[in-house]
This record gives sequence, C-alpha cells and structure tokens, in this order.
Amino acid sequence: MTQEPHIPVLLKEVLGYLDCRSGGLFIDGTFGAGGYTRAMLNANPGVHVIGFDRDPNTLGTAHQMMTDFNGRFTFIHDCFGNMAQHVHNQVDGIVLDLGVSSMQIDQPERGFSFRSEGPLDMRMAQRGISAQEVVNGFPEQEIAHILFRYGEEKASYRIAAAVVQARQKAPITTTVQLADIIHRVMPRPKDGSDSAMRSFQALRIFVNDELGELERALTASIDLLKPSGRLVVVSFHSLEDRLVKNFLIHHSALRPHNNRHAMTEMTAEPILFEVLTKKPIVAGEEELACNPRAHSAKLRAARRRQEAMS
Ligand SMILES: C[S@@+](CC[C@H](N)C(=O)[O-])C[C@H]1O[C@@H](n2cnc3c(N)ncnc32)[C@H](O)[C@@H]1O
Repeated sequence: MTQEPHIPVLLKEVLGYLDCRSGGLFIDGTFGAGGYTRAMLNANPGVHVIGFDRDPNTLGTAHQMMTDFNGRFTFIHDCFGNMAQHVHNQVDGIVLDLGVSSMQIDQPERGFSFRSEGPLDMRMAQRGISAQEVVNGFPEQEIAHILFRYGEEKASYRIAAAVVQARQKAPITTTVQLADIIHRVMPRPKDGSDSAMRSFQALRIFVNDELGELERALTASIDLLKPSGRLVVVSFHSLEDRLVKNFLIHHSALRPHNNRHAMTEMTAEPILFEVLTKKPIVAGEEELACNPRAHSAKLRAARRRQEAMS
C-alpha cells in the first residue's frame, strides 16, 4: 500500500491561536510527522519547540528535525500526559493534535484500521496491552463496557457476546477477523459508515488510555503555561472534545457562577483560562477537499490568565 504523507490539520488556525510569530518556547505534545513543529519553527527564528511522541516510529523524523533546527528543537519520546515530568520551565504555548496519524492508520501492521488486514495491535507506543489481548482475554462484561464507554456503541453487549463466542473457537488475531465478527451481528449503518468503526475506536482509546492522557495533559497545562500562554487542542471525536470543552468551562468565566445562592466550591476556584473559541473551529471547504482527516477535527483554544477569583 502506498502511504500518503500526514497532512497537518487546521495548521493555519493552530499557528494563529498559538501566536508564535514573536518567538517563545512551545510544546508540541503530538509530534507525529512534525507538521506543526516545523511550521512553528519556521514562523520565527526565536521559536523553540519541545516535541513529544510515544510512537518510536517518529524518532527518525524527530532526529532529522533536531539537525535541521540546530538547538531549537528538543524531542522527548514519551507520552504527553507526562509532560510536567520533563519540562521544568513555563512555556508560551502547548498544542495537542489528538489521535493517530495517517502513517499509523495506513500501516496495516499497526492494526488500527478495520479496512486492511493486520495484527490486532493498536498500540501507539508499541508496548503495553494490545487490542488482541483485550478481545481474547477480557471478560465479556468488561469488553461490553469498553465498547460502550469509549465507542458510545449502543450494541456493545451484542458485539461483546459475538466476540466471546468467536474466541471460544479460535483466538481473534487480526483486524479483519474482528471486523467480520462485528459485521455478522450488526446491520450496515444507514449513513454509509462501517459498523465496526465504533468498536475499533473504543479499543484504540482503551489500549492507549487516550482520555487519561488528555486529562493529565490538560491538568499539567495549568502550571506549565506562562500567564498569557496558549493552549490549543485539536480533537477528532466527541469524547475528547467534550473533555476539553468541560475542562475549559470549569476553569474559565464560562462556568455557571452568576447565581450567588449557589456559591459552591467550584465557583470559589480561580479563573485560570480565557476561552478564545466560544465554538470549536472546524475546517473550511478548501481544507476538507484535500484532507479527509479534517472532517471530524475540532479546535479549541484558550489563554492562561493571571490567577483571579470569579
Ligand atoms: C494526529 S498525529 C499528529 C500529527 C502532527 N500534528 C503533524 O503535523 O505531523 C498524532 C500523533 O500523536 C501521537 N500521540 C497520540 N497520543 C499521544 C500521547 N498520549 N503521548 C504522546 N504522543 C501521542 C501519535 O503517536 C501520533 O504520532
């Protein structure tokens, strides 16, 4: 299979909200193919970037970029959820472009796609528990819970039962094997999508602890960002977007705080962020025409404030 290069999503908007034109220190939590990092470094010679990625396949590009941008780019091969353990100076901006890259999804051997035959893996870091171990080893109830919680799959119990029945005959080792099991018990969705999509999303989120990672990074951003520092998050499904939205509402003036009779613990907390995107930013027609990944992208951005009470 020919591999399409990863086209950075909402790049112009990301750069705009990060505001790196006048230099500064930035964290790119999801280095991937380095699309955002390169654009940030090119925006101003005074920009320094610390890039994170958990996937060892990104190391080659990262090392090349360290050479190309001598001294201005540092790469940390770890999860962005651990960023506070590695970065000890406050930064001017943090960007997260969540989920998987085109390189990961297009390589059948990574096991992310139900469209091409590959081992049922799905581990971005290429270590830890794999999707294969989940579907073959977890109790039926737990599989159903994962499909419902992380895929919002209403037929989670039906699919989990089919998985358990199938694995009693032979272990489920490939993506296509799992997709076939799901297709057999699920009607084809009217919107033309694939009935295995939600289950694959759920397993991927669980295997990579994607929501836990996002929560840890959002919390870390509170202390890592300088006053006026920017937080920019591009998400690709509603669970991630909801988490970012709720975090920003909770820590900004958007939270419900007007009712003086309802003075709760929350309303007494300081306002930490000014939300810059009242509604999430989505891709325009021009970008959608040349980058299918942009269809589900939602960008939310906020500026860190000096701490002040609501
Ligand atoms: C959508 S791609 C980023 C593409 C990048 N913005 C670019 O322009 O090339 C997401 C990348 O983030 C990485 N990633 C996802 N979750 C991560 C996490 N919790 N910690 C570190 N890297 C992560 C993936 O391995 C993948 O390479």
